[in-house]
Amino acid sequence: MRTPLIAGNWKMHKTVAEARALAGAVVDGVAATATRDRSGCDVVICPSFTALAAVADVVRGTEARGGGAHVGAHVGAQDAFWGDAGAFTGAVAMPMVAELASHVIVGHSERRTLFGETDDDVNRKVHAAFAHDLVPIVCVGETAAARDEGRADAVVLGQLDAATAGIAPDEAERLVVAYEPVWAIGTGRACDAGEAARIAALVRARLAEAFGDPVGRSVRVLYGGSVNPGNIAAYLAAEDVDGALVGGASLDAASFLALVDAART
Ligand code: 13P
Repeated sequence: MRTPLIAGNWKMHKTVAEARALAGAVVDGVAATATRDRSGCDVVICPSFTALAAVADVVRGTEARGGGAHVGAHVGAQDAFWGDAGAFTGAVAMPMVAELASHVIVGHSERRTLFGETDDDVNRKVHAAFAHDLVPIVCVGETAAARDEGRADAVVLGQLDAATAGIAPDEAERLVVAYEPVWAIGTGRACDAGEAARIAALVRARLAEAFGDPVGRSVRVLYGGSVNPGNIAAYLAAEDVDGALVGGASLDAASFLALVDAART
């Protein structure tokens, strides 16, 4: 059985002090819900780079790895560069992230559209993440135009194939994929849950085809795009959707904790 995963992508929000306060409230709340007799839920908090160390300090010691209900949270970066070191002004490398975090978001649509990130960059980042024992949360998703033209499936599967090219099955097994249709991000126009489930199933089938059935069964597929406490249950009800990657609703402890609560069965 796959453990549900709720990840908060704070994007370019929160100073260090604000991040420390929000992470503290999230960690306390996650621990409180975990004391009930309910299933585990992996929680990943992805602050900006400047707040990564502070959030890692808050989260440290709260992670319960290795069985039982997960009572803590994990830390993720929102991106990282594929080079290990070198003259890349402004970039942050995977080994730097790995000192502070266990996860890294790769290929978010905002990176692709605002910062010119290509499928090849995403693939290099996925390889670099695995090389440093980080779990990549790979984002895929079509634009409104692509969907209108009937190319949603092709775009999603094309991005997935490109992102995962050349990775080993034992790496693929640890992958997290987030289906985030670009038109649903930050718009309040969340994707129909049935459609998100259909795409999640497509993603899973493609991974099974490429890396074998065990990988298809173990990879967690998330939905992202205007997720909130009112619509999360519809996504989680789908067999192939294992959780959510959340932007706006992750910036407030109460709404984020409501999502985590919904993911505990
Ligand atoms: P919103 O939840 O704000 O739509 O953002 C989704 C997202 O991009 C998460 O990575």
